[in-house]
Amino acid sequence: MKPKVLVTREVFDDVLEYLSQYADVQSNQSDEPMSPGALAAALSDKQGAVITISDRVDGALLKRCPELKVVCNVAVGTNNIDLAACRSAGVMATNTPGVLEDSTADFTWALILATARRVTEAEDYLRTGKWDRWKLKQLLGTDVHHATLGIIGMGGIGRVVARRAAGFDMTVLYHNTQPAPKEVENTCRATYVSKEELLSRADIVTLHVPYTPATHHLVGKAELAQMNSSAILINTSRGGVVDDTALIAALRDGTIAGAGLDVFENEPKFNSDFLALKNVVLTPHIASSSVVTRHKMVMLAAQNLVAALTGKTPPNLLNPLKD
Ligand code: DGY
Repeated sequence: MKPKVLVTREVFDDVLEYLSQYADVQSNQSDEPMSPGALAAALSDKQGAVITISDRVDGALLKRCPELKVVCNVAVGTNNIDLAACRSAGVMATNTPGVLEDSTADFTWALILATARRVTEAEDYLRTGKWDRWKLKQLLGTDVHHATLGIIGMGGIGRVVARRAAGFDMTVLYHNTQPAPKEVENTCRATYVSKEELLSRADIVTLHVPYTPATHHLVGKAELAQMNSSAILINTSRGGVVDDTALIAALRDGTIAGAGLDVFENEPKFNSDFLALKNVVLTPHIASSSVVTRHKMVMLAAQNLVAALTGKTPPNLLNPLKD
């Protein structure tokens, strides 16, 4: 008998075909979001699941899923999974590192350029028929080239963002819980500084940290006040790393010049006060969303699932069950 697995959201057909060779697959190709109750009910007889960042896996859910052996997140971030609860329930958890760093870094640059050069605001100006003549002072933006980039979080994505900065002749500062190895600093041409120094010197601050209790509101009112009034903030990491209420106030009163945001507190029901602001570029958590990368992410999650259910150690196991 094949093990039973759940795929909680719509995925590419070939991923379902691959999984079906090893498992009896229940998939949600209609892509209806599952409430916590519906997820628990669907998982109650399953041995494994391919899950997404919208699916919360915690002790309460695990209690209702006695058969579950493995949950495979289609994401590198794992804040939707209580790893300790999984470990005590004997459930393996995996993520998808190594396949999305380049695409996420590319999108970070898309937000940096769009915010600094006011791309979405300019497009709206044109689309709404306001463009009647060339003006010297039209939609003046901020230069990215030769500016100072401040990267908070020098993991896989932060490092790729740093490497891309060389093409813009930028000065790169970074802050991290630990300084990166010297060879990484050299390849990235990045200098380690304190968070305070980074915030006060950078023209562009970009966030690449996981969301944990330690990074909750890492950028709030006090940090925004330390930034230059001409600076911009970019967040492609996780909602909750930034205090959105404080950011809205800072964008309104000119504490900082702009922001480019792909992630929000309480997404997708983000704070609608952002919508009234022109100096913010808003996108719906799509930084890793290229055709190739999203396919690689979900296929890697499926491979982790198959490994776990065929008695192997999944390549991206987050919580080894035995010491
Ligand atoms: C990740 O990999 O954590 C992304 O945010 C998912 O889109």
